[in-house]
Amino acid sequence: MTTTLITGPTRGLGRAATLALADRGSDLLLVGRAGKALSEVAGEARARGVQVHEIGCDLSRLADVRAAAVAVRELLDSGAVGPLRALVANAGLMSADTRAASADGYEMTFAVNYLAHAQLIGDLLPSLAAPARVVLVGSNTYSANIWRRMLRVPEAQWRDPVAIAEPATGAASPGFTASGVAYSNAKLAIIYYAHELQRRVGPGVNVSVFEPGWMPGTALSRGAPEAMQAMGRALGRIPGVSTPVRSGPALASVALDDRWAGLRDGAFVVVDQVTEVRPVANDRARESRLWEATAELLGSAARRA
Ligand SMILES: NC(=O)c1ccc[n+]([C@@H]2O[C@H](COP(=O)([O-])OP(=O)(O)OC[C@H]3O[C@@H](n4cnc5c(N)ncnc54)[C@H](OP(=O)(O)O)[C@@H]3O)[C@@H](O)[C@H]2O)c1
Repeated sequence: MTTTLITGPTRGLGRAATLALADRGSDLLLVGRAGKALSEVAGEARARGVQVHEIGCDLSRLADVRAAAVAVRELLDSGAVGPLRALVANAGLMSADTRAASADGYEMTFAVNYLAHAQLIGDLLPSLAAPARVVLVGSNTYSANIWRRMLRVPEAQWRDPVAIAEPATGAASPGFTASGVAYSNAKLAIIYYAHELQRRVGPGVNVSVFEPGWMPGTALSRGAPEAMQAMGRALGRIPGVSTPVRSGPALASVALDDRWAGLRDGAFVVVDQVTEVRPVANDRARESRLWEATAELLGSAARRA
């Protein structure tokens, strides 16, 4: 029996993908904040006939992430679950205030979307059973995008990753546009990381990035001003706009279906189409610097713990 790990299974895209993974018969390791929502989705997945383990983890605490990786390794090594064939790094958020810091002192959006997943994937790489897939969840917002600009999510403004990881300072919030830039930077980091990871892992692990399409109205921007959230919910009802119910099974498909077995090199899949990324998202110098800076950021957090 195949085992798949997914982060952020409690709502939105991750919840729909979790149930679609269960429908495909994969046992599941659900990494999310412990509580009722995690137990509920675990129960729904179990009702589909697969084995499910809940791994309580707040991704804004790297100590929690390291502990989650230890828990996963114990389950695998004891034979309690079958080989780990897919890791889906789905959890994400757009923090409403870029002064907010994770438990390790890093800007919250970068910490949860990117750093936590780099830690988890790095810790679990040796535990993946070839042929294995790592699927990261990215977003088109890394480059100019008219629809997302309507919701004040501008394109990335790349800087050195150590600077990106620093929370903003000052008495007043830098505002929601700054939050959007932080989100786009974190999503550009995910694409760069996927390219570099593929160069560094063995041939038995395929790395890709999934873009679910614009799903206005999910809880992703739950910290945004209410008027913007209301606009998101209204836009989410337009026929043809992506929704978790439509994109969740597409994400499960990229993780498990034979159709995507050859997908690698950080290929960018928009729902069900492999799409060329913009030139800004292919940058060997930035990718290699991100790898090095990530090791520094994760290493210093571990030393401080
Ligand atoms: N919505 C869009 O238009 C869109 C477009 C492109 C890409 N994406 C990406 O798709 C992914 C899913 O987004 P969504 O729209 O489904 O958002 P969502 O409904 O808010 O779901 C986000 C998931 O991430 C989890 N999460 C957030 N912070 C966490 C933390 N500190 N520790 C553990 N789990 C945490 C949430 O858990 P809790 O339930 O505990 O909060 C939830 O399960 C994200 O990576 C997002 O960037 C979304």
